[in-house]
Amino acid sequence: MDAINGTSAKTAKLTIGETSWDLPVLSGTIGPDVVDIGKLYGQTGMFTYDPGFTSTASCESQITYIDGDEGILLYRGYPIEQLAESGDFLETCYLLLYGELPTAAQKADFDYRVTRHTMVHEQMSRFFHGFRRDAHPMAVLVASVGAMSAFYHDSTDISDPQQRMIASIRMIAKMPTLAAMAYKYSIGQPFVYPKNELDYASNFLRMCFSVPCEEYKANPVLSRAIDKIFILHADHEQNASTSTVRLAGSSGANPFACIAAGIACLWGPAHGGANEAALKMLGEIGSVDRIPEYIKRAKDKNDPFRLMGFGHRVYKNYDPRAKIMQKTCHEVLGELGIKDDPLLDIAVELERIALQDEYFVERKLYPNIDFYSGITLRALGFPTSMFTVLFALARTVGWIGQWKEMIEDPGQRIGRPRQLYTGAAQRDYVPIARRK
Ligand code: CMC
Repeated sequence: MDAINGTSAKTAKLTIGETSWDLPVLSGTIGPDVVDIGKLYGQTGMFTYDPGFTSTASCESQITYIDGDEGILLYRGYPIEQLAESGDFLETCYLLLYGELPTAAQKADFDYRVTRHTMVHEQMSRFFHGFRRDAHPMAVLVASVGAMSAFYHDSTDISDPQQRMIASIRMIAKMPTLAAMAYKYSIGQPFVYPKNELDYASNFLRMCFSVPCEEYKANPVLSRAIDKIFILHADHEQNASTSTVRLAGSSGANPFACIAAGIACLWGPAHGGANEAALKMLGEIGSVDRIPEYIKRAKDKNDPFRLMGFGHRVYKNYDPRAKIMQKTCHEVLGELGIKDDPLLDIAVELERIALQDEYFVERKLYPNIDFYSGITLRALGFPTSMFTVLFALARTVGWIGQWKEMIEDPGQRIGRPRQLYTGAAQRDYVPIARRK
């Protein structure tokens, strides 16, 4: 890309008053060109202003591409539909981390490496016992992932590529164990150790749902569904949590601390917390005949209510992940013999009505991945408080891939945005006795 050699065939002209500047225009492989404003302040004494980063490319990346108008999502160039249909999650992890699909030997080696890191330090279980039983599992996850930097000192030196790789493998491997521990702790059941003969998804389901007094056999259809859900959530270019990971990592912080920062950001209802919020909303609506009332509320600017699981900053078309999620939802309910799920009926009808409503059509608001994931995860046996935890588990590889890409970029610098200051101008300190 032109950004690397600093040459650009195209330029954009910026004129302020009588003076004009030529700004380089850079092109990627696909997607919109960008205007390089890196030298703007030095040349003009001005910043750009873009709260919410709606028009800002914060970095150069080769990992994930989204065409929001067409509803396209590619991991390293491969369409999400093909990966979800034909691949598995660990293969997707390899692809995101290394840039290519693995050969059979590479896949076997990667699976082996991840599998050999699934156990967490035994002392971590004592760390868990410090939490209240009713703590939200996301609170426990943020803390326990951050705490990994206190348990795995031999993989916190970010200047050592070997340590970076071990930290990456450790997080992909241990995240299901930590997520399952957070769940087990909240329901007062003993932690279940990983079983390395199982595939990634089955192992996770077993750690969540088995008890020491009974044999547990993961249902392959449900394991496959969970694996697909993980693939769908694995990466999503420079979203809020990924940008958080990059910003935290830009200061040189260790990878466990950076991923903990990403988890904290993901927790919010506008981001990963939306699946939990979407299911709560469907429950609150309660019956199909109350949908118009909620549609009306969503459209009312004086009402803070929004249709959760609807709308997206980038997708102005059907979220491609939502389509696969909807299909997976039907597969899971079918396998479990759930013929009638009132929440699914409400979701389907809500989607139908919203997609015909002028308000939603005009604003290009479509269901996003979170609209159907909550119903699916609930059917699989997860409580709502675990939904965002599963999102974090799956997104960990994306965060790590993006963090590694940034650290390995020789031009990497600390991220340091500026601001439009609107506070008081300089003034003199007033002693307290003279203040009114
Ligand atoms: N319900 C009702 N109106 C909405 C909704 C919604 N869910 N989403 C956006 N709008 C309206 C919004 O009021 C605004 O209308 P107007 O132009 O008249 O003021 C317009 O659509 C544009 O919205 P925005 O807030 O400027 O869009 P944004 O890009 O800042 O926000 C969003 C994107 C995802 C935060 C937002 O659509 C939302 O809050 N959705 C519900 C939460 C949700 O489902 N989040 C999951 C996102 S996908 C998973 C992930 O990436 O984490």
